Amino acid sequence: MTDRSALGGVLVTGGAGFIGSHIVEAMHAGGRPVQVLDNLTTGRASNIPRDIALHSGDIRSEAAIAAAIRAAQADVIVHCAAQTSVERSMNDPQYDRDVNETGTQLLLDAARQASVRRFVFISSGGAIYGETPEPASEDTPPSPRNFYGTHKLFAEERVRRSGLSFAILRPSNVYGPRQRSDAEGGVLAIFSERIAGGLPVEIHGDGRQVRDFLYVSDLVDAVDLAISRSENVVWNVGSGRATAIRDAALILADQLGMTPQLVFRPRRAGDVDKSLVSPALLSSTGRWGPPLALREGLQRLTESIKTAAL
Ligand SMILES: NC(=O)c1ccc[n+]([C@@H]2O[C@H](COP(=O)([O-])OP(=O)(O)OC[C@H]3O[C@@H](n4cnc5c(N)ncnc54)[C@H](O)[C@@H]3O)[C@@H](O)[C@H]2O)c1
Repeated sequence: MTDRSALGGVLVTGGAGFIGSHIVEAMHAGGRPVQVLDNLTTGRASNIPRDIALHSGDIRSEAAIAAAIRAAQADVIVHCAAQTSVERSMNDPQYDRDVNETGTQLLLDAARQASVRRFVFISSGGAIYGETPEPASEDTPPSPRNFYGTHKLFAEERVRRSGLSFAILRPSNVYGPRQRSDAEGGVLAIFSERIAGGLPVEIHGDGRQVRDFLYVSDLVDAVDLAISRSENVVWNVGSGRATAIRDAALILADQLGMTPQLVFRPRRAGDVDKSLVSPALLSSTGRWGPPLALREGLQRLTESIKTAAL
């Protein structure tokens, strides 16, 4: 972890959500002043330590943003707040754009006004690259398949043009404790919830479609590194390893000590066969990785499920 002593405050937007709360927790544990701006649509106040200031507000509100930046005395903004449901982005593209693109622009404007030193944007590798026969590098032409991915891409462009010092992180499928089963990349959250509850697991297609699963602490480490840098960077953050979703379900069931009931359904329109990102550029810094093996990450996830059930 970076030496925090010389550093100012961090504002984490979406800090009450799955990924944001892990970032907040790590900052807090490292002694860095951190505050949260979140409208609690999918986030929960209980996801963050009680002594962390939570500004209940919307990134579509200039006033809410300005107040949170001021209160946090933000030197750094880590922007995680987003509309994260692919399905909702297709049903209501305007809402997705308002939050994911326009909200990002409002945040950038306020950050510039407040002379924020570093802006870290959590984009999405899974959503912007589309089908990836080979693991995508940062130079792979984006090919989003839904409005969520399109607006993430537009938001990236706004970050690039902001004039701020920035890092754009493109995570693959992130998993870990506190993930909701109804958001982007939530397949392992759904599987674990169903398997632990003794319920059948629905798989769309034959289950051989592969994903690049990344344990949440590896993303937190990338955020930490991104904050410590001053140059503008775009980094894929993934394991670079392909796992068939059916295999992931079987490992999970094994670790939970359950017999899985897999139910195969027709494939959904727009689903990709392979979604993989290469973290080679990030790894080449020599300060990140190797990412946690899937079995070990799932072990940590199942431990947290078992503890919660006690
Ligand atoms: N989970 C993944 O696999 C994954 C993969 C790639 C990228 N991402 C990105 O990571 C970030 C965090 O995602 P997550 O999985 O933790 O989802 P999440 O839904 O748990 O977190 C999003 C947070 O943003 C908050 N939020 C939503 N709209 C808001 C608004 N208008 N104003 C203020 N707060 C708002 C929510 O309440 C929630 O706390 C998102 O930007 C997402 O696009 C996630």
